[in-house]
Amino acid sequence: MIRRIHHVAIVVSRLAEAYRFYRDTLGLPLRREAELRDQGVRAALLAAGDSEIELLEPLAPDSGVGRFLAKRGEGLHHLCFETPDVDGTLARLRDSGVEVLDAAPRPGLAGRIAFLHPRACAGILTELATPPPGDEPPASSSLQLKRLVIGAREPRPTAARLQALFGLSEVAMNGGPRIMLGVARGSLLVVPADEVGGHEGLVALSLVAEDFPTLMAAFDRDGTRLLRGTGEVTIEPEASHGVHLHITRYW
Ligand code: CO
Repeated sequence: MIRRIHHVAIVVSRLAEAYRFYRDTLGLPLRREAELRDQGVRAALLAAGDSEIELLEPLAPDSGVGRFLAKRGEGLHHLCFETPDVDGTLARLRDSGVEVLDAAPRPGLAGRIAFLHPRACAGILTELATPPPGDEPPASSSLQLKRLVIGAREPRPTAARLQALFGLSEVAMNGGPRIMLGVARGSLLVVPADEVGGHEGLVALSLVAEDFPTLMAAFDRDGTRLLRGTGEVTIEPEASHGVHLHITRYW
């Protein structure tokens, strides 16, 4: 039912500033930008391998995203799964008692979209999207979405809920309290909230850079603040608009 993580959305104060990091430094190709009045945002989609990054700038402080920005600051906002038939998927979920924010799909930046209530999805605001036919992301983006980290007070029931809702399969790990769910090439990693500063919900994002040296040169050129490891970097959240962002050299 779920083909891939279509996108991970990030709330930002100003799209123009967020482009400087996500488009210009990271080099993610901008796919499209539009004002979505019904969602109270100006939104952009940038390609990241099989998935995309969505940037959301509120149109007004009293919109849903405007209130999120005022309360939480910039950062990860929602997760979107691609399904081949959003009408059918939404109907099936509604019929099984899943609480939704959209009774019927509507046009959005990703195609026909609908939001589920976070209460129904272990506290995570989740969007479903069916892109228009032929709308495949470009094959040539230098960065790929690898993993989205979710903090949970109880990782096992949280992962079980996500698996039951979206038919995701668990990826074998070497025991321990973390649970990995595969979604196409990417994955969701559910970790105990106390491992991630007590945060629940979307807490961090990992990307893979196929051309790591070029990316490092771009960070140097643009003065990006980061912590350098061996084959990986962690961007300072101030530089990545509130996102705990890890970039690795390898899958
Ligand atoms: Co979205």
